[in-house]
Amino acid sequence: MKKTPLKISIALLVIFLLTGCGERIEDLEQVAPGEKIVIKFSHVVAEDTPKGLAAKKFAELAAKRTGGRVEVQVFPNSTLYADGEEMNALRSGAVQIIAPSTSKLGDMFPRWQVFDMPYAFESVDEIHRAMNGSMGKTLYGDLEKGGIYPLAFWDNGFKQITNRVRPLVHPSDFRGLTFRIMINSRILEEQFRLLGAVPVQMRFNEVYDALSSRAVDGQENTVSNIVTQKFHEIQPYLTVSNHGFMGYVVMADQKFWLGLPPDIRAKLEEVMKEVTDWEREQAMIINERDMKVLQESGKVKIHLQTPEEKWEWKRALAGLEKKLEEILGAKMFSELNNNDKNVLSSQYLRSSPTTLPRIETSLVIMGSIDLFSGCSLTREFSL
Ligand code: SIN
Repeated sequence: MKKTPLKISIALLVIFLLTGCGERIEDLEQVAPGEKIVIKFSHVVAEDTPKGLAAKKFAELAAKRTGGRVEVQVFPNSTLYADGEEMNALRSGAVQIIAPSTSKLGDMFPRWQVFDMPYAFESVDEIHRAMNGSMGKTLYGDLEKGGIYPLAFWDNGFKQITNRVRPLVHPSDFRGLTFRIMINSRILEEQFRLLGAVPVQMRFNEVYDALSSRAVDGQENTVSNIVTQKFHEIQPYLTVSNHGFMGYVVMADQKFWLGLPPDIRAKLEEVMKEVTDWEREQAMIINERDMKVLQESGKVKIHLQTPEEKWEWKRALAGLEKKLEEILGAKMFSELNNNDKNVLSSQYLRSSPTTLPRIETSLVIMGSIDLFSGCSLTREFSL
């Protein structure tokens, strides 16, 4: 029998591997640079946060599962684009994925401000149910009509309030103080006004300097953002109020995304789904971990809001429901109230503080604090 020359054997082996009969190519070095699809993913938070870690994980898995055809480059900490610049960067094609907090969509997609409505949601589960139901459909529909391709809804967690002046226990404690708020949300602006404070819209990357120079007195944020930005080192008072939710819409430009090769798009969407489940777990773990960091830092006095105080805050904020109705439109507003039980608790003012259970708290709380089931203490608070 005639021997096959070495050169032919190598050629046959290459054909065998390239036609998919061999192992999948997972080594980026084997992919010609021209074949690579580069996706720039820009965000504004630190790497060691739920969003920061999930963006990195998405990049890793995207490269792996597409055999190196996709390279996701992650730009954290506003290094590429800051708040207010991200959306334009996405639309112009300067970046391909962003993940702004829902509040920041308020100017272009006002109904996303529903998450800014204080005490509208009692738990993260309730939010996920609403996003899987008619509320999510309406909100995603708004983005799609605006040329955005929503890829996922990622959690951070419920927001808490910090300030440098005094403990924030009653609404009257807010009087005269200035608070940084996220850009583009009329609900957040009104929230602080109704509490007697002065809201100041500001980009995330400017907050630390504004707090340390005392340009503003306080801010609201999740525990993971407070710790990674070191706000607690210059803000001696924190109230665990769980009053509003901070979530993210991971999004791409519609034209760009639909223009991807279908097999690549399918793989990336599969990866995004997997990363979203992971991100939601991490959000819980990281915020709980960072709550311990706050407790152990000795730098911040933590006040856990009682049900009575929550009721007082809600009373002070009651005017917001009218504003939210204007923003959402009568249909979505009434759907939230009537169909998606518990999503929006317009009846809350009918509860009387005298019917609420008394819970002892002190200014410095040790032990575990529930940041995800809508503050464990408030679960007994019947809405
Ligand atoms: C973010 O988590 O993306 C930033 C939140 C903020 O602007 O406070």
